Amino acid sequence: MSVILRSLGASIAPLRMSNEDIAERLDTTDEWIRSHTGIGARHFAPKGTMTSDMAAEAARKALTKAGIGPKELDLIVLATATPDYFGFPATACIVQEKIGAYGVPAFDITAGCTGFIYALDAAASMLEARHGRHALVIGSDLLSRIADWSDRSTAVLFGDGAGAAVVSRIDEAGRGCLSFILGAEGSGAKDLYLEQSPRDDIWERSAPTVPTLRMDGKKVYEFAVKSITVLIERIMHATAYSLGDFDWIIPHQANARIVQAAGKRFGVPAEKFYMNIEEYANTSAASIPLALAEMDEKKLLKPGNLIMLVGFGAGLTYGSAVIRW
Ligand code: UT7
Repeated sequence: MSVILRSLGASIAPLRMSNEDIAERLDTTDEWIRSHTGIGARHFAPKGTMTSDMAAEAARKALTKAGIGPKELDLIVLATATPDYFGFPATACIVQEKIGAYGVPAFDITAGCTGFIYALDAAASMLEARHGRHALVIGSDLLSRIADWSDRSTAVLFGDGAGAAVVSRIDEAGRGCLSFILGAEGSGAKDLYLEQSPRDDIWERSAPTVPTLRMDGKKVYEFAVKSITVLIERIMHATAYSLGDFDWIIPHQANARIVQAAGKRFGVPAEKFYMNIEEYANTSAASIPLALAEMDEKKLLKPGNLIMLVGFGAGLTYGSAVIRW
């Protein structure tokens, strides 16, 4: 028995903003953004678009490619840091209604940019445990809505988008999701968090503030490099694979320099890491499924390929998945 990623779908936000476009609004330059991050552009969703709209678009595309109707789903798991409603209802429930998957259980996962890997592990485990057949695993984020547009050190880094995968349990061993590693370091919770004004006492009546992303870039950078390094070492230790066995490593697209540092550490050629940060910037939970959907579209993923997903993000969380395509 295996759980495979049967099909993929993406939702690319329509408003493309180059670094030059951003430099018209913030004190920054294309040269600084490219040299410090590898980002050349990002895509923003127009006013009125919600995280669930992008998620539903990606989900519909993945379902169409799989040839599976929404009512055949057994589960919807959605990873996001920017839900339609902070707290409740789950954005996954709103997507369930939008795609017509009536009655299908649906819930959200909060694991920042590692969210898609957490969601994939949760969905694969639930399909296996309950003998379900098909799940929809989605990463969708609208970072433009929580970015601090007065802070050039964070605002230039993020974009909007969604990626979805139809994940199916099959009666065949050795394919699909082979192993997962998940972890978290809650001591770094305030290194990357959403500042808002929750009531911390019963009768408080302070005016709510707009939720705004706050990041200690240097601390998160160090955590990210350490996470990729530790994850790769742990995968090598826990499996019989060496790095040379992998056809692709698909990292969370946060900063090209983080990936270059990991590649240098292990002597892995840059071409083995799939990167699309130059066009989409950091789309948080959407970044890995967006990369997978793009690779699928370009027919880069061949049956039998061994791939590694590695992510890190708010929590602070980290995680990896080893998949035989
Ligand atoms: O997905 C979640 C995970 N997130 C990440 O992995 C992000 C991790 N962190 C990073 O990628 C990097 O720390 C950043 C890209 C956020 C920052 O890069 P850095 O090389 O650490 O820059 P810095 O914060 O040390 O800033 C260096 C200089 C400063 O100027 P001074 O003080 O040296 O004069 C900043 O004010 O660059 C300045 N700066 C900018 N200049 C032009 C910061 N942001 C900008 C900007 N444009 N956008």
